[in-house]
Amino acid sequence: MTRTVDIRESARHDLTEIELLYPLAFPDEDLLPLVRDLLPDTMNVLSLVATIGSQLAGHVVFTRSRIAEQDESTALLGPLAVSPVYQRQGIGGTLVRAGLQRLEDEHVDRVFVLGDPAYYGRFGFQPGAAVMPPYPLPAEWQNAWQSLSLTGSDLSRPGQLSLPDQWLQPSLWMP
Ligand SMILES: CC(C)(COP(=O)(O)OP(=O)(O)OC[C@H]1O[C@@H](n2cnc3c(N)ncnc32)[C@H](O)[C@@H]1OP(=O)(O)O)[C@@H](O)C(=O)NCCC(=O)NCCS
Repeated sequence: MTRTVDIRESARHDLTEIELLYPLAFPDEDLLPLVRDLLPDTMNVLSLVATIGSQLAGHVVFTRSRIAEQDESTALLGPLAVSPVYQRQGIGGTLVRAGLQRLEDEHVDRVFVLGDPAYYGRFGFQPGAAVMPPYPLPAEWQNAWQSLSLTGSDLSRPGQLSLPDQWLQPSLWMP
């Protein structure tokens, strides 16, 4: 049977399934408080779900941000979660690409992510972003901080990423 993956912006009624998804995808990390704080902030947050029939298979958040004292429009990717039963079937990639396309349509210049370069490299993210995250990262995470230009903007231009309050918790930026 052919299975269709639909990608759409999340709605309030998705919250119950999103709350079930995160502990399954991240058994060792509690990202739910962050996700719960981000979702109502629809001004700053793009939240997409992947559904298969009536099942929620994955979720991604992009938070719109700025670079202090610069006029570029930017976004931070994360968290990204795919239900273990649906992993390695292209759903994470479909969510990331759908989000990047929407941000490109909004003329967002650069997207940042803190994650595994082996995964995010496939979307064009490059380690060594010159723009600093809100808190200094431990040495072992330097390569995990990556950026992608959607508009051909200069990735080597330094700066400080300015994010909404939900992200201003040091514990989100350390192992
Ligand atoms: C990481 C995650 C979002 C990927 O979603 P997915 O739908 O399983 O991924 P896709 O099917 O789009 O891509 C699968 C590919 O990514 C690779 N991959 C999956 N997770 C990876 C990871 N953490 N690091 C590196 N590569 C990874 C797989 O090996 C696979 O590679 P292949 O295509 O060469 O076989 C999903 O596995 C997940 O939710 N994991 C737990 C939560 C998590 O770690 N999220 C943060 C990601 S940094």
